Amino acid sequence: MRHLISPLDFTVEELDKLFDLANDIERSPAKYAHAAEGKILATCFYEPSTRTRLSFESAMLRLGGQVLGFSDAASSSASKGESVSDTIRIISSYSDICAMRHPKEGAPMVASEKSEIPVINAGDGGHQHPTQTLTDLLTIRSMKGRLDNITIGLCGDLKFGRTVHSLIHALVRYENVKFIFISPEELRIPEYIIEMLKAENIPYEEVVRLDNVLPNLDLLYMTRVQRERFFNEEDYIRLKDFYVLDKAKMELANQDMLVLHPLPRVNEISVEVDQDPRAVYFKQAQYGVYVRMALILTLLNLV
Ligand code: CP
Repeated sequence: MRHLISPLDFTVEELDKLFDLANDIERSPAKYAHAAEGKILATCFYEPSTRTRLSFESAMLRLGGQVLGFSDAASSSASKGESVSDTIRIISSYSDICAMRHPKEGAPMVASEKSEIPVINAGDGGHQHPTQTLTDLLTIRSMKGRLDNITIGLCGDLKFGRTVHSLIHALVRYENVKFIFISPEELRIPEYIIEMLKAENIPYEEVVRLDNVLPNLDLLYMTRVQRERFFNEEDYIRLKDFYVLDKAKMELANQDMLVLHPLPRVNEISVEVDQDPRAVYFKQAQYGVYVRMALILTLLNLV
C-alpha cells in the first residue's frame, strides 16, 4: 500500500507514467468512466477548500466510484477532541482511499502511519501540497512541453506558501531549472529551502521587484498572500497587495511565458489578465482533475 505525503514519494519515472495516464484520461475520458467502480474516496478536510476537495470528488465520480467525507473540522468529531489517528482508523473501514487536508503540518503523515488505506496529503499547514504540485507539473509538461530547461519565477507569499515549497522540491529533480524568488522581505522563501538549493548547486535569485525579472521568465507562478497564516491583521493588510500582475506588467514578459497560480486568487492577478493566452491558471485547475484521477487509479492499483 502506498500513500502520497510528499511530492518526492514518486520517482521522476513514476511521475512521467502518472502524467502520461492523466493525458490519456484527458483525451479519452470514456475509457476510464468505470475504472474505480465499487471504490469509495473519503475527503477529510479540516481546512477550507474549493479546488482540491471538489476536484478529488469529481475525479472519483468520473472514475465511476463514490465519495463521502467532511469539509469542515467543526462538523466532524475533531470538534469533540478526536485525534487524526483515531479518525483514520474509522475512515479506513468506511472507504478505500482518503484525501486529507489539515492545518497542522505532518497530520496526514501521522494518519498514514495508522491507516489501512492509501492516504493522500491534500495540504498540511504551510508545509506541502503534493497534489497541487502534480497539477502544476502536469500543466507545465502539457503546455510547455518540458519540465527541464526552465526559468521559473515564484512570486508572493514564499514563506508560508505550501504550494511553492512542494513545487520547488519537485522541480529540483529536473535538469537545468533556475528559480527566481520574488517576495517582500517578510515573506522570503524559508532558509531550509535555500540551504537545499545551495547544497545541490541549483541556481536561484531572490528579488523584491517583479518588473525587473519578468522578461527572463519561462514561467511565472503567482501566489496569494494568505490571511489565514498571519499572526496579525496589520501585517497582512500591509503586504496583501504588494504584487498585482496586470496587463502593463504582462507586456514586459515573453510571448511564451505562462502564468500559473494554484488559486484562489485575491488581487494579485488583475482579472484583465485572464484574457491573455499566457494565463493558464483556470486550465491548470482542470488538469487537477485529470491528475487526481490518475493518482487514484495508481494508488488503488487499478492500472
Ligand atoms: N489550490 C488549492 O489548494 O485550492 P483550494 O484551497 O481551493 O483547495
